[in-house]
Amino acid sequence: MKKFTTVSDVENLQEIIKKALQIKANSLTETEKGKGKTIGLVFLNSSLRTRLSSQIAAQNLGLNVLTLNAAQEAWNLEFADGAVMNGDTVEHIKDAIEVLNQYCDLIAVRCFAGMKSKEDDVNESILSQFEEHAKVPVISLESATRHPLQSLADCITITENWNKDRKPKVVLTWAPHIKPIAHAVGNSFAEWMQKMDVELVITNPEGYDLDKNFTKDVKVIHDQEEALKDADFIYVKNWSSFDDYAAMPEVKEDWMLTNEKLEKTNNAKVMHCLPVRRNVELSDEVMDGGNSIIYQQAKNRIFSAQAIFSEILDDLNDPCQGF
Ligand code: CP
Repeated sequence: MKKFTTVSDVENLQEIIKKALQIKANSLTETEKGKGKTIGLVFLNSSLRTRLSSQIAAQNLGLNVLTLNAAQEAWNLEFADGAVMNGDTVEHIKDAIEVLNQYCDLIAVRCFAGMKSKEDDVNESILSQFEEHAKVPVISLESATRHPLQSLADCITITENWNKDRKPKVVLTWAPHIKPIAHAVGNSFAEWMQKMDVELVITNPEGYDLDKNFTKDVKVIHDQEEALKDADFIYVKNWSSFDDYAAMPEVKEDWMLTNEKLEKTNNAKVMHCLPVRRNVELSDEVMDGGNSIIYQQAKNRIFSAQAIFSEILDDLNDPCQGF
């Protein structure tokens, strides 16, 4: 694998899930694979799970890990091409990436949507600069439109929790929030689930449909109760409007997931990428109840990252590279 920013970088999803589950069974079988190599984990936005799970995964592979909390610790970055930098910005992203090239064998980056310009976000204005200027493999730790390491962890978690010989019904449900949230997790989950052997349904209020480029022909139902019927898995996530970019159209119905709603499903397992706003997106009783597999999902972030880093190291360690 040469880079990892989208599901299309994965040649065989079932194989990578299998590999991640083998790593979960014994995570220390490749402790020499990354020896002498360095991964840079660059965070332009906050993180708990992605930062820590990526560090654990990299350490399990023997990689040196450099973590840069760029928003807090680095110089104020300029992203605009041709900018006259006579204001608050101190270092251009192009120069920062060129320097990272000198220090790192792999560069992983978190760069959320700015939620100000739809065009910039849809075109991945920051990730695309890493892809353009990095001379080493680039890994997304969540970008403007996708969160692929999260989605792989979600696929691993569903696989672990399903042993029936029929397709599970997986419902991605919108949940309330207090501020406009980006589309990356919802987009990505929709994209990856279409590669899995599941029946995917998306439910959200009118005005909150995700970008069709990600949802394609997936059924979208605007009535949450109808969508949740017979669900085997419910993925809870908020996102703001895509059409009226970053707006929060009024929603009259109560979309928070509660035990009462769970009772009408097929005893569905509940998922959320975290962090979650308790008693806004889902209730305490759901979060702390027996149907939640949310912490298992968070643990699987380690094995998702380790499987991907391992694949990329295979490519870097391939003696045929460069011939
Ligand atoms: N789910 C997830 O990416 O968590 P963090 O934002 O804490 O990394």
